[in-house]
Amino acid sequence: MSRLTGQVAVVTGGGNGLGEAIALRLAEEGAAVAVLDIDPRGQTVVERLEAAGHRALFVQTDVTDEAQVRGAMEATVGRFGRLHVLVNNAGIEGANQPTDQLPLSEWERVMAVNTTAVFLCTKHAVPHLKRSGGGSVVNISSIYGIVGGGDIPPYHAAKGAVRTMTKNDALTYAADRIRFNSVHPGFIFTSLVNRYVHDAGWDPKAAKTALDALHPLGGTGTPDDIAWGVVYLASDQARWVTGAELVIDGGYTAR
Ligand SMILES: NC(=O)c1ccc[n+]([C@@H]2O[C@H](COP(=O)([O-])OP(=O)(O)OC[C@H]3O[C@@H](n4cnc5c(N)ncnc54)[C@H](O)[C@@H]3O)[C@@H](O)[C@H]2O)c1
Repeated sequence: MSRLTGQVAVVTGGGNGLGEAIALRLAEEGAAVAVLDIDPRGQTVVERLEAAGHRALFVQTDVTDEAQVRGAMEATVGRFGRLHVLVNNAGIEGANQPTDQLPLSEWERVMAVNTTAVFLCTKHAVPHLKRSGGGSVVNISSIYGIVGGGDIPPYHAAKGAVRTMTKNDALTYAADRIRFNSVHPGFIFTSLVNRYVHDAGWDPKAAKTALDALHPLGGTGTPDDIAWGVVYLASDQARWVTGAELVIDGGYTAR
């Protein structure tokens, strides 16, 4: 398929997990993809994309740093000419401590990566999206942006903020033909979830069984389950979709 031929996409946190799958699927659909990640592993992802014949660029970026974010957007447009799609995917789980025991510094660390960085990347992508005549911003929130899980408090706050930031930006930039949608994944075993399980002191096998049981469709998901949703929202097939929340969670929040 080639739903994104001629398009240019930025994927934050594209060096691992969901972002890596999103970068691959966007590229397969014809997009040139800039991977922004603090982890140099993003370069490996880009080399894999290029080896498969896709156009790709790695910009090592801390998405909480405004100057780096501005520079990364400029580097993307400098290389590929335009920008049409931004996927705000970079995220961290943060400490699993109840609110009354949580250090302020940990709250601020999670909010910086999971919420402030969405603001910064959006801020510095919008002028380029406007110059392209419009585009699509996909914000990766979480089921924890919709319901409580009884754990990781700042993560819930950050992902809930992203949900409503998305709707507000959808209204603000509709006249510019820039669509904003959020995606709400259920549990998928990536580095993030493995850390979450480890930090909780959970036996990995028991954790997999317990987390699988929370998803009525028969278990936790895969990165591609999310990537296909992002491809849809990025493409013109979603031309009339903005301010929406696409829940991809195997039924976790259906109860
Ligand atoms: N895995 C899940 O079950 C799940 C569920 C719901 C939502 N999500 C969300 O999906 C997104 C991707 O998560 P994942 O599971 O693939 O995690 P992951 O840890 O596998 O990948 C996250 C990526 O973000 C990058 N990153 C972290 N901090 C960064 C920073 N300051 N600047 C630039 N890059 C940074 C990491 O280096 C990594 O490559 C996150 O926003 C996460 O909250 C994940």
